This record gives sequence, structure tokens and C-alpha cells, in this order.
Amino acid sequence: MPIQTTEKIWRNGNLIAWDQANIHVLSHVIHYGSSVFEGVRCYGQPQGSAVFRLPEHMQRLLDSAKIYRMEIPFTLEELCAGVVDTIEANGVAPCYIRPIALRGYGEIGVNPKGSPIDVYIANFPWGKYLAGHGGADVCISSWNRLAPNTMPALAKAGANYMNSQLIKMEAEANGYQEGIALDVNGLVSEGSGENVFVVRNGVLFTPPLGNSALSGITRDSVLTIARHLGCRVTEQAIPRELLYIADEVFFTGTAAEVQGIRSIDRIVIGDGKPGEITKKISDEFYGIANGLKPDKFGWLTPVKVDASEEVTA
Ligand SMILES: Cc1ncc(COP(=O)(O)O)c(C=O)c1O
Repeated sequence: MPIQTTEKIWRNGNLIAWDQANIHVLSHVIHYGSSVFEGVRCYGQPQGSAVFRLPEHMQRLLDSAKIYRMEIPFTLEELCAGVVDTIEANGVAPCYIRPIALRGYGEIGVNPKGSPIDVYIANFPWGKYLAGHGGADVCISSWNRLAPNTMPALAKAGANYMNSQLIKMEAEANGYQEGIALDVNGLVSEGSGENVFVVRNGVLFTPPLGNSALSGITRDSVLTIARHLGCRVTEQAIPRELLYIADEVFFTGTAAEVQGIRSIDRIVIGDGKPGEITKKISDEFYGIANGLKPDKFGWLTPVKVDASEEVTA
């Protein structure tokens, strides 16, 4: 789906016109993938709107930057305020928010230190990421996730998404909506842009971060909700075949939200219908995000923009 434009983009502390947010072709980021970024959602509420887990997202941006020795000239509070200001200036909610810190135009050598760091925040409408109401049909990718000590998987860096693109394109070329990648040791890692959860015999499993998975904010939200609902939760290495014999499998991610999986490699998961635990967790997740259930974990940052659509569970 083409990006739906809004009016303003935040650049280094100022709001500029959408069309002015351009960079030079010789910017470091274009040649070497030197950026770190976030994907955040703002949800409509019965009154106004709210950003979901804003400080956690912006802290992950700062963490990603730290791994790559990028000094971001803004504090956590300034970055969070930048997100709120951008959404309020554009008056668009619900929306997806894309903060990015990149190495700009300076030197062409691999060493990034001679190129300036620019920080941008954009927001725009973006609906459902993975189609399929009854659950997604996915495959195990022939591509592995990033090997430990090569590209750091805990950094949400632009360059990592070359790997994600391979996973996604292969899946779609073969008629699937998404791919689940294994790590270099053949254990389940994550989707091209989602963490993976498995339910078997009432227990919720997800791979630990050591299996080259991103520390997803939605992953953390689901772990918190599941524990709160009294569900047994374990972060442990998952062999590929456990996916096939699971009762339920679902993805989590800011873009994908909580998305049930109907089949993997054409093997039907459970009875092929949305599972009970997936449903309970996703009801709670959307209930909190949409302001229809109490924000008991303090996950919402209010924004003064009325939602353009009716808020439903
Ligand atoms: C590779 C990858 N894994 C997992 C996730 C889920 O993370 P989050 O829930 O923070 O969006 C994302 C999306 O950001 C991702 O790109």
C-alpha cells in the first residue's frame, strides 16, 4: 500500500513540510544501511488518541543507537515529546509512527563517524499489516535470521531489514503471507517483522532473545498480559517441528499487532481456527490499546487528536 502523506515531519527538533524531508544520495545511510528506527502505533480512544508504549519504543531507539555508537542529540523525553508534537501537528490518528536516526551526508568511507546524525519522526495512517481474518498462512523461510555476533539482532537497524526482505519476498513468491525464520542453529527465531508465540497444552512459549529475535515491545506486552491472565509462560528454544504440532501459533508486532496463524508450510495449526489463548490475549491487548479496558500497566501516552474512526474492540 503506498504511504499516505501527512503535512509535517519532525527533523532534529523542528517540524518541516513532508516534501522537504529529503536526503542526499551520497548520505552514509543509503550506501551502508546506517540507520536505527522504530515503528510505533497510536490508537484511537473513546476520547482522543494514545500512543502505545511510547517511552519503551524510544528507549529501544536509543539502545539501538548505542550499539552502533551513534550519539543521538536528544533525550528520551525530547524524543517522546517529538512524537506527540508530530501527531498533534498532523492531526492524524489512528496512525503508525516512524522515528528514524540516520547517518547523513558527510564522508563516503565505511567509517560512519564523519557523517552527521539526523533524527526524523513521521506519522501516517497504516491499517492492518497481515491480511487474513481467520489467521495467516505462513511458511518456514529458507533464509536464516542474523547469526549472533554478525549483525546485532537486538538493534532495530535499517541494515537488518535486508534479511527481513528476503524472508518476506520468498514467502509471498510462494503464496504465503509471511515467513518464520530459524536462527543459524535451526531453532525458531521470528518472522520478518514479528515475534512468534506458540501455545501447546495450555503453556505459552516464545523464543528467547538469544535466538536472534528482536526484543519486541508487543512481545513484552503479550508476556505481561499472559502472566496477568494466569497463563504459564516460558521463553525457551523452540524446535521447528513444535510449530507444526502446536495448538495455537501467533505473531506479535507493532505493525502486525496480535495475529493468529492458521497454517505453517500448509500444515493446519490446531483446528485451523483462532485459538482460545490467542483470542484472550488479543482481546486484552486491543482492549487496552483502544482504551476500552483499563490501562493497568500504564502503556498509553495521550495525544490531543480525535480518532478518525469509531473505536471498537
Ligand atoms: C524483526 C522484527 N521482529 C519483531 C518485531 C516486533 O517488535 P515490536 O513488537 O516492538 O514492534 C519487529 C517489529 O518491529 C521486527 O521488525
